[in-house]
Amino acid sequence: MAQDRPFNTAEMVSVLEWYRAAGVDLAVGEEPVNRFAQRAPVRPVAAVQAQDAAPAPHGAPLALPSAFLVDPAAARALAAGAQSLAELEAIVGAYDGCGLKLRATQLCFADGNPEAQIMLIGEAPGAEEDRQGKPFVGKSGQLLDRMLAAIGLDRTKVYIANTVPWRPPGNRTPTPEELAICLPFLHRQVELVAPKVILTLGGPAMQTVFSTSTGILKMRGRWSTVQMGNHGVEALPTLHPAYLLRNPAAKQQAWRDMLSLKQRIDTLGIS
Ligand code: URA
Repeated sequence: MAQDRPFNTAEMVSVLEWYRAAGVDLAVGEEPVNRFAQRAPVRPVAAVQAQDAAPAPHGAPLALPSAFLVDPAAARALAAGAQSLAELEAIVGAYDGCGLKLRATQLCFADGNPEAQIMLIGEAPGAEEDRQGKPFVGKSGQLLDRMLAAIGLDRTKVYIANTVPWRPPGNRTPTPEELAICLPFLHRQVELVAPKVILTLGGPAMQTVFSTSTGILKMRGRWSTVQMGNHGVEALPTLHPAYLLRNPAAKQQAWRDMLSLKQRIDTLGIS
């Protein structure tokens, strides 16, 4: 039935509750946008290869190779073509092979100083990051800024990225497939920044960067050399600021990790 009077307060609250239950947790515009209608659907790589390899019917133009390969090898080839971070950002922004892009508001590529020798890698953008297009600008980002300040760092001295550059719906953890598809872009990002040290934030970022399935509580605080593309670099896993907000008692472990980072950057003469 058509609504011919303005909603009253109780009705507006119940509409908002309905949106929240349906997973809508961020208002980004006045009008709804059907992002699924905007882009061609992501197709499995086998189906794409079969179609690309199939002979064209009589007289039909050859089908163009798909731009939607759900395939880390395709992402790797694209990433390898980037000669600068600006080029890489444009390539990632145009890439349609990761389904996360369909539900995200925008690309959230990086923040901080691209010349920095210290790189931070988080898990994935959250709601505020998705709105602003920058990593770690929400509540956990504010705590991260305080953690950095405690050892004399700020965003002019570090470069910050995430394992995936689009917000997973409802802030869920990225799937192994999403991580694998985006990993070549992260590798190229690390190659282009060429940091001397990496600090990973939280379990999924650590597992991606260290190629491990070990839990964060076992591995945090231990330095190892990791290979990111063709760049070998010392990396330290620490706890995610969002975890610290939920578990303040764990801050003492994170503090130890930050002191370890401080000691390493002093030893390496990084300013
Ligand atoms: N958590 C992350 O891992 N990354 C962000 O950018 C924000 C929150």
